[in-house]
Amino acid sequence: MKVTVVGAGAVGASCAEYIALKDFASEVVLLDIKEGYAEGKAMDLMQTASLNGFDTKITGSTNDYSKTANSHIAVITSGIPRKPGMTREELIGINAGIVKTVSSSLIEHSPDVILIVVSNPMDTMTYLVHKTTDLPKNKIIGMGGALDSARFKYRLAEAMDAPISDVDGMVIGGHSDTGMVPLTSHATRNSIRVSEFLNGDRLSQVADDTKVGGATLTKLLGTSAWYAPGAAVSALVQAIACDQKKMFPCSTMLEGEYGLDDICIGVPVILGKNGIERIVDIPLSNAEKNKMKESAEGVSKTNDLLTL
Ligand code: 2OP
Repeated sequence: MKVTVVGAGAVGASCAEYIALKDFASEVVLLDIKEGYAEGKAMDLMQTASLNGFDTKITGSTNDYSKTANSHIAVITSGIPRKPGMTREELIGINAGIVKTVSSSLIEHSPDVILIVVSNPMDTMTYLVHKTTDLPKNKIIGMGGALDSARFKYRLAEAMDAPISDVDGMVIGGHSDTGMVPLTSHATRNSIRVSEFLNGDRLSQVADDTKVGGATLTKLLGTSAWYAPGAAVSALVQAIACDQKKMFPCSTMLEGEYGLDDICIGVPVILGKNGIERIVDIPLSNAEKNKMKESAEGVSKTNDLLTL
C-alpha cells in the first residue's frame, strides 16, 4: 500500500508520521516544492523507525511526481496556512492554484488514486478537484469533519469532566469558523445523551468553542494547527487502506443528499477500500437542517470565488 503526502509542512509531516506509526502502509512518499525539505523530514522520520517500531518506508521528494507513481491514496496538504485573525476562505487565491496543479500531477502518475484534500478553504478545494479532474466522486474526499469532531469531543469531555474515550460526537457542515454544525443532539457519553450531563447554555458554549477550534489554536500558535489535522487525515487514510468501513464526516460532492446539490460539504460517509463507499443519511432536527442550509450557502459563496 503506497501513500503520498503532498506538503511536508507541519500537517503533512505529522500525517506521514502517524501513518508510519500505525504501520499499515508499505511506503509513504512525502513531497514538497522546497529543495531538500521533504527528503530531510523523511530521513528524520525514518531515523525514528527503530525507536518507534515501524517498518513503513518514508521517502522524500522535491517536486518529482514520478516518485509518487502508483499511489493508492494521496493527501493534499500543500498551500499556505492561515495567520491569526484570517479566515480559511482568505487562502483561496493562492491555494486554489496549488491544489489544481498538485491534483493533476498526482493523477498523471496514479490515475486510480484516492485523493484526500486538506488544504483550505477545504470544502471549496474539494469542489475544485471535482471540477478540474475526472476522478469519480467516491475518490475525492475532503478532510475537515473528522478534525472538527475530534475538537467537539475534546470540548464535550472537558465540559463533562469525562475521559475522551467515553465521549462520541460528530460535526457536519462546512469546515469554517461559522459553518460547522456540531450535532449536540446526537452526542453521547457512553451511550447516554450529553444533554443528561450538560444544560443548554453549556452545550451551546461547547458548540461555539468547537467552531472556532482552529482559530483558537492559530491565535495561540501564530499559525494553523498540525497535530490534530495530521491525526485526523491519517485516520481517513487508514480507514481506506484497511477497508475499515468506518463512518466519518467528510466533505463530499452532494447530488441531492441532505437537500443539497453541486456542493462539497461535510456529511457522514462510510470509508473503505473504494474511498467513499456511501453517504449516510442521518435524522437532523429542524434547527440542524437550517444550520446545514446556512452552512451550504456560505460554502457556495466561497465556491463562487473560484475561476474554474
Ligand atoms: C484547522 O482547522 C488547518 O483547517 C485546519 O486546524
